[in-house]
Amino acid sequence: MKLEGKVALVTGSSQGIGQAIAARLAQEGADIVIDYRSHREGAEETLAKVEATGRSGFIVKADLGVVSEVRQLIESGIQHFGKLDILVNNAGIEKNADFWSVSEADYDAVLNVNLKGVFFVTQTFVQHLIETKRTGKIINISSVHEELPFPHFTSYCASKGGVKMMTRNLAIELGPFGITINSVAPGAIETPINTKLLNDPEKLDALLKNIPLGRLGKPQDVASVVAFLASSDADYVTGTTFFVDGGLLWNYQEQ
Ligand SMILES: NC(=O)c1ccc[n+]([C@@H]2O[C@H](COP(=O)([O-])OP(=O)(O)OC[C@H]3O[C@@H](n4cnc5c(N)ncnc54)[C@H](O)[C@@H]3O)[C@@H](O)[C@H]2O)c1
Repeated sequence: MKLEGKVALVTGSSQGIGQAIAARLAQEGADIVIDYRSHREGAEETLAKVEATGRSGFIVKADLGVVSEVRQLIESGIQHFGKLDILVNNAGIEKNADFWSVSEADYDAVLNVNLKGVFFVTQTFVQHLIETKRTGKIINISSVHEELPFPHFTSYCASKGGVKMMTRNLAIELGPFGITINSVAPGAIETPINTKLLNDPEKLDALLKNIPLGRLGKPQDVASVVAFLASSDADYVTGTTFFVDGGLLWNYQEQ
């Protein structure tokens, strides 16, 4: 067990990739702060998975797009477990629209969760580590779309591109404190965010043709890389992105 004695906060951990990360970090020995926005039953399901490993979980309701709730989330976690060691910025949303018809409300919704939320949850976590003079690990769940264009999802791409530069910048600024920060960038993973795609055989087939490993990823594929980055095996790794995409990002072939 690589994370014994550690406490991890996983944002948006009531389903999908976040739920798998919470369960996997618990398997490695960490206690888990489970954050959800509206899906309480999902958070309870995550808690059951965490407890099945013998570790403790603590559920907190917080909207990552609202800075006061973000601060409250970190404070509740610290109050409950006494400290935090690992932050996984997983919560994220996307909105599909032609660029010329994106509404301000949709733009704000995406950027508030995917970038502003990540920024301020990370800031509050770092303040806690500096105040308590401890090292820690930050892992951002980014996307292949921090590199790869995704037409009709420009606000999403802008948010993930922002996370990429945040990761690089903070690696330098936080390195002297022994705090590492890395991103894990999934390709196409089987989660509720992809429900439409999963139910469209034609689109799904076209996508699979672009994935050299020939399958969609599973939330566990992402969680295992997060577990590595959260552990001391990755102590000398900071400021970089790990793509978990079956080879999708760099796939180019001439027919
Ligand atoms: N599934 C994929 O193919 C894929 C690919 C690349 C990147 N990602 C990224 O992985 C992360 C997880 O996505 P997923 O596939 O598990 O999607 P999902 O929709 O299943 O889960 C997203 C989670 O974020 C939470 N969330 C959304 N808005 C929130 C808010 N305002 N406050 C708190 N929590 C909020 C949701 O409640 C949910 O638990 C996201 O950042 C997403 O961009 C997913």
